[in-house]
This record gives sequence, structure tokens and C-alpha cells, in this order.
Amino acid sequence: MISIDLKGISKFVPQATLDEYTKKAENGLDTVLGGKGAGNDFLGWVNLPSEIDENTINSCNSIADKWKGFVDVVVMVGIGGSYLGAKAVIEALGHAFNLSKKEGCPQILYAGNNISEDYAAELLDYLSMRKFAIVVISKSGTTTEPAIAFRLLKNDLEKRFGKRAAKERIVAITDKSKGALHTLATQEGYETFVIPDNVGGRFSVLTPVGLLPIAIAGFDIKALVEGACEMQKNCAVKAAGNPAIEYAAARNAVHAQKKDVEILVNFNPKLQYFGEWWKQLYGESEGKDGKGIFPASVNFTTDLHSMGQFIQDGTRMMFETSVLVDNAKNEVKIEEDLQNLDGLNFLAGKRVEEINKMAQIGTRLAHIDGGVPNIEVHIEKLDEQNLGELIYFFEIACGISGYMLGVNPFNQPGVEAYKKNMFALLNKPGYEKESEEIKKRL
Ligand code: PA5
Repeated sequence: MISIDLKGISKFVPQATLDEYTKKAENGLDTVLGGKGAGNDFLGWVNLPSEIDENTINSCNSIADKWKGFVDVVVMVGIGGSYLGAKAVIEALGHAFNLSKKEGCPQILYAGNNISEDYAAELLDYLSMRKFAIVVISKSGTTTEPAIAFRLLKNDLEKRFGKRAAKERIVAITDKSKGALHTLATQEGYETFVIPDNVGGRFSVLTPVGLLPIAIAGFDIKALVEGACEMQKNCAVKAAGNPAIEYAAARNAVHAQKKDVEILVNFNPKLQYFGEWWKQLYGESEGKDGKGIFPASVNFTTDLHSMGQFIQDGTRMMFETSVLVDNAKNEVKIEEDLQNLDGLNFLAGKRVEEINKMAQIGTRLAHIDGGVPNIEVHIEKLDEQNLGELIYFFEIACGISGYMLGVNPFNQPGVEAYKKNMFALLNKPGYEKESEEIKKRL
């Protein structure tokens, strides 16, 4: 179960102010649950955990079973919300050093999240020695990055195995009726999953967008959804102990003290991609109309040796939210050494995690002393249930926070600007006027 510790903001935010923000967060929750705010046609994620049907879970698991042992690698093609959630969960749950994150399951690779030619060439090179399958994910079905990667991979698969066999190794996840990917998948007869209309990309990890890749990687998607369901219940009430209200209130109260940057901190490298998922969720949801808290992320203690100086002592503009896993999965102890040349015998007999914990407490106190408020989000351990809880918690807190900031948390108009310029520069049909204009600026 998630618990929130707000002791690290008490020096910066008086209790009365926090109480005010708690009321605002409760109103934000009403707006989300009542579907009363801007973007309310994108609230399908709110009841997703409790409404998910058994068939979806079973279909994802049956593809996972079919491909286990049949292919060595599955390439997940997608960008933004169409891959980050799956990658966050797979990295958090999987073995850090095995290519297969879970013994006996295919290795998961990602494509379509960049337009680097070197990446594409080296991926095709790597796949040339391996049996692979593709899951192509795009809600709009028109996003350039995954469309390019899919064309390259599909052609490669068809050349190697023939069109008919390739079809058995491709699954598409997209809109139910529109977009180029929908047309292509229907025409080619690929097995297809639908992304509900009312669930935006960055809120879609608990749909097949996240569930299928996570199942293929070998993890228990039923437990993930059960965790989210548990959190859905906890976050639906306007009472003390609703962690989403506590977090949304705290981060907005701290932001009001001119802290414009929120850094998501972990002390476990398995959570690095959880930070990436969280940055997209909060960045795209809140950063608009000249408003928002800029989301950043760090991996400690690694980044204490790179970003630590700035966080401790640089421009005072940030606060931290630490996602802390209370119990490590494994046990490694420091041994006594007779010679003690490294001077580490004072740690002998301690678990590595005990030392990590002291680093975490020491860092938090140092950063608070340095003017960095700290919110702690605790989970018991890294498993499917806890990650499901964490995902839903951050999603609903994001909806609440967006409304507290006065923005529509469910659109992303700013993302279109670079696309328009890129299409104009590439002379995409329909962009003739923009092409002419942009060329004058070069
Ligand atoms: O949250 C969002 O809507 C976006 O970040 C999308 O996930 C991202 O742009 C990918 O879009 P699509 O799934 O339509 O290819």
C-alpha cells in the first residue's frame, strides 16, 4: 500500500496553507470523478482498473503464451504514452542484467521512439540473427516515428519469413476505426487491440498498450490491474489518507512557494523508466498555457555525483518527490575483511539496502537544509500489485493537479508545433503553404 510522508515540506509550507491546498485538491478530485472539467471526454482511465474485462487480460496472456519460445525478441514500436508505461513496468520488475527480463520469455526491445538512422540500422542488424515479432502501438495511428520504424521492421520480417508468416508475428494496437495504422492492420489482417477513445496515450498503460507488452515480457498483468483497482478505491474518497489528494495538495502548495521544478527521485535504478513515464504524464498534462511544474527525474545515489551539487546548492527552484521501495527483493551483505584496507569494516554485516537507506535519509535531510522541500511516496516492494497502485495513484493525482493549476490535463496542443515544421520541411502533401513559409526562415 502506498503511503505519503510530508514531513519534508513542513519547514516550507505552514499547516494552514497545506490545509487550504487539501481543500483545493478535494475539489480537483470532484472535478475528475464528476467529469466536470475541461477534457472530460478523456476520462476513460478513471474507471479502467475496475472495468477492465477478463477477455482483454486473457487475450494479452494468450499472445504472450503463443510467442514464448517461438520468438527470441519482441519489438515494441511506439512513442510517448505508447511505450513508456510498458517500459517502466518491465524495467522495474525485470532482471537488471538478463536480456530476457524474465527467464524463458522473449527479450523486449523498443523502436519508433526516435528517428535515429544509427538506431534503426543497428536494430535491424541485431534482429537479423534472431527470430522476432512486432507489437506496433499508436493511438492516432498517424505518428511519424512509429510509422517509420514499423515500415522498416515489417518489410524486414516479410522479406525473411514471407508475408503470411510475418502476419503471425505482428500485433497492432490502435484506434477502433481511424488512422493509417488501423487501415493497414485491417487490410493486412493483423491481430488488433483497440485503445478506447476516451483514454489518452499517457494514461493508457492499463489498456492493451501497456498490458500486452508487460504480459509478453512475462509479468502478471492481472496483479498489476488488481493493484490499480485497489488504488482506484482508495483514491475515490475525499477523506484523510487519500494519497492522491495528499500528494496533489503538497506539490501544489510547494509550487506556490516558487518551486517550479519537481524532481522525481529514486534510489533504485530499476525505477529509472518509471521516472520517464512520470515525466511524460505530468509534463504533457500540466505544461500548458504558461503554467505547470516542470518534471525532472534523477537516479540516486548515481546522480548525487552529477546533479547533487545543483540540487543542494544551485538556483533554489526545485522540490523533490522520492519514490521509495521499502523492501528490496534480494539480500546482499557486506563481509568482514581481515585487512580492512578499504576501511569498510564499519559496514560489515550490514545489508547493501541498509546503507542505501542511510544515503536516502542523509540526502533528504541535506536537501531540506539546502532549501529543497521533499515529499516521500513509499511502496512496500517492487511487484506487479505495488506498481499497479503506483501507476493509478500518479494518474489520478495528475488529473487533480492539472485542474488545481487551471489547465486541461488531457490535451497536448503543444506537441503539434514541431510536427507541423517537420512536415513542412519534408514537403508532406498538404503542407505546401507551410513549406514555403518555413524555407524563408532557413
Ligand atoms: O499522451 C499522448 O497522447 C502522447 O504522448 C502520445 O502517447 C504520443 O504522442 C504517441 O501517440 P500515438 O499513440 O497516437 O502514436
